[in-house]
Formats: sequence, C-alpha cells, structure tokens
Amino acid sequence: MQEISQLELPHLAMEEAWFAKDPGPQFAEARKEHAWLASSSLGYVVTNYQAVRDLMAMKDAMRTPFDHTVDLMGARGTAWGRFQLSHILAYSGRDHQRLRDILAPAFTPRRANQHRPLMREVISDLLDEWAPKGAFDFEEFASHFPITVMCKLIGAPPEMIPSLRASLETLGLSVSMDPSLTTALDEAVRVVDDAAQALIDEREAVWKPGDENDLLDLLIEAKASGGMTRRELADLLIFLLVAGYDTSKNILTLIMYEMVDRPEDYARCAEDLEFCSKVLDETMRIHGATTTNRLLTEDVTYRDVHMPAGTMLWFPWSVIGRDPAAAENPDSFDPGRDRTNPHVGFALGPHMCLGQFIARVQLAEGLHQIARRITRPRSSGPQGWRPFPGVWGIRGLPIEFEPA
Ligand code: HEM
Repeated sequence: MQEISQLELPHLAMEEAWFAKDPGPQFAEARKEHAWLASSSLGYVVTNYQAVRDLMAMKDAMRTPFDHTVDLMGARGTAWGRFQLSHILAYSGRDHQRLRDILAPAFTPRRANQHRPLMREVISDLLDEWAPKGAFDFEEFASHFPITVMCKLIGAPPEMIPSLRASLETLGLSVSMDPSLTTALDEAVRVVDDAAQALIDEREAVWKPGDENDLLDLLIEAKASGGMTRRELADLLIFLLVAGYDTSKNILTLIMYEMVDRPEDYARCAEDLEFCSKVLDETMRIHGATTTNRLLTEDVTYRDVHMPAGTMLWFPWSVIGRDPAAAENPDSFDPGRDRTNPHVGFALGPHMCLGQFIARVQLAEGLHQIARRITRPRSSGPQGWRPFPGVWGIRGLPIEFEPA
C-alpha cells in the first residue's frame, strides 16, 4: 500500500485560465502518468471514470467542503460566506435528507414533463425576439432561457429577471476559487436574497393550507408544517436559482459550440426531439459543466492507495466522460453512441442533481425549437472559457445564422 502523499503524480493546473480552454487533453496526458489520480494546487483530482464512480459510492467517508471554500476566499462572516455554509449542497446527513425530501416531489420526471408547454412557450417567446437579429452572442441568448423558466416555476415577476440574471452570472463563479471575486459574490448573494425574501413575503400574504400551485407553494407548505425554517426556505430558493441557471446556460452554449461544426446533426434536431436528448447526452459526456470537490472525513484505501481523512478530492464531472476506459473513440462527438457507461454530468451520490429531469427536458425542448428557428449557425468570432473548477463553460459564443 502507498500513501497518497508519497505518489509521484502528474500535475493539473486547473486554476489557470489556459487550462480551461481545452482540459480534455490535459486529463489524457495525466492518465498516461497515473491511472486514476493527479495533483493540483486545489487538492487531488480523480482522473478515471470508474474511480470517480467507486469513490463517490463511499458517500459516508466524505462531505462537501464549503467551509474550506469560504476560508480560501477569506469570506467568513460575509453574506456570501453565510450562504455557502447553509445551502442544500453544504448540508449533510439528516438535514440534507430533510431538504431533499421536501424538494423531491417537485423534481420527478413526471413533474418535469408537465413543464414542457411552459418551456416551449418561454423559448419560443425568446426566439421571437432574438431570431430576427441574424447574429448574436449565443451565450447571452441562452442565459435568458433557464432563468425565465425558473422564475415562472416560482411565480417571480419578469421585472426581477435582469437583476437576478446579473447576480446569478456572478454566483456561477462561486467555486472557481478566485478570492478577487469575494466582494462581487457578496453583493450578488444580497440581491438574490432580497428577491427571495420579497417573493416569500408576497406569497405568504395570500397563501393558505392546501394551495399547491407551484414550486414556491410547495416550499411554503413545508415551512408552514415545520419542515424547515424561513432562512432555509430563502436559501433553497437562492440555491435553486443559482443551480439551474449557469449550468443549463453553459450546457446549451456547449451544445451550440458543437452544432456549428455539425450541420447534419443540427438539422436533425429541428425534426427530431428525441435526437435532441441524444445530442444533450453526448455534449454532457464530452464536456459537462461542473467539477466539484469532496473532503474525506475518514481514512480511505482505494486501489492500494491510502488517503487519510482530510484529503481533498476533485471530481471532474465535466471531462471524465472522455476517459477511453469509459467510451470508445472518446473525443469524437457521436450522439448515437452506446451509453453503457452513462455520463456523470449531473454528478453521483447523495447530492446528485435534483433538477436533472427539469434540465434534461428544458434543454431538449430548447434545442428543438432553436434548431427550427435559427438555421445554418456559423461561428462568427472567438469564444472565451470560464474557469475550470466549479461551473465551467463557454464565455461568449458569437454566431451568425439564417432566421427561419
Ligand atoms: C444542465 C444543467 C445542470 C447541470 C449540469 C447540473 C449539475 C449538477 C451537479 C454536478 C450537482 C452536484 C454537485 C456536487 O455534487 O458537488 C447538482 C446539484 C444540484 N442541482 Fe443541478 N445541474 C443542472 C441543472 C439544475 C436545475 C435546472 C436545477 C433546479 C431547477 C438544479 C438543482 C440542483 C440541486 C437542488 C442540487 C443539489 C442537490 C443536493 O445537494 O442534494 N440543477 N447539479
């Protein structure tokens, strides 16, 4: 058996801007030097698909380390620091299960399917406004879709969208581990918290037991029956807004990034909604939107490597689907490929994405309508990249196209 600290490991510069541009080959190189582990300035990185699955299955030996994130950012005592320590992803054990049980009924595949007409209406309205332009930044366009759907799901008025959107854009960088962002993150969390508190006040003023018209009613009912506190309710609302915004926008933008080079696949998306789900799965396999971390709470020995309690492990959900042990020709984009090893873009374990069915339906419906209204998209300028740790993706994707 070897101690993890004694291993000669390849180094992944995950925190560097150049790394975010094309992380896949960096991981491929790292796997040549060690089968499943790399080092980084932020902790160890698990680089092998099966190792990610095996380690995440040891759920009782690890926890989410938001206290470390807050310390690294020097943000103890700030509004953002408080929120980082109190949202559902920061919870563990019984309290985490309590919040998950409250949310679960609103996040089933059946509920997600019921939202299809609403999602179609939102994307169609957006396309009415944006498609005639013939050229735009696709990332900016895509950012309006998930926030508008979420606001409708919780009954937030459209006037709230601009300030929420700007703040969620900032909060998407919460786990990018960049201390220079602390002030902006703090301001952003205050804006979203104020909006959440106002929404709760307004709804509580008219709510009566038995009202269950939307997601906010369900959460208010849980609070009224003693299932959670007012602070937890507001934090859940903030978290849902954050969790569904950046991730969904980034995946939709990554889809378009792939589609501009694949006119046949794209044209098929306009005809075939089911094919849109395959394009979504393949995009999330080849580049998902997140890389998150866990702190070991007890000693773990895996593949003959001893990792002491306190070891920080990063799980790169965004690129792990490109491990050649998990997919044949891992770098080729093939929506029809065999999915024996499904992508893990929604993570694994107790915190696995609760919104995944909503996200899947929303993105497939969105892509279907976009492909019908925005034809022959071409790249019309260089795109940038968001920081790799945390929520990753494209920053600015200029395209031109023929409006249909
Ligand atoms: C393509 C879009 C999305 C992606 C890629 C995504 C990805 C993820 C990932 C990777 C996690 C787990 C993070 C970790 O374990 O460290 C997560 C958790 C979560 N996501 Fe999503 N997400 C998406 C959309 C959504 C949407 C639309 C919602 C809500 C409407 C949502 C709500 C949540 C919640 C509540 C959690 C925390 C679950 C828990 O702690 O038990 N997500 N998501």
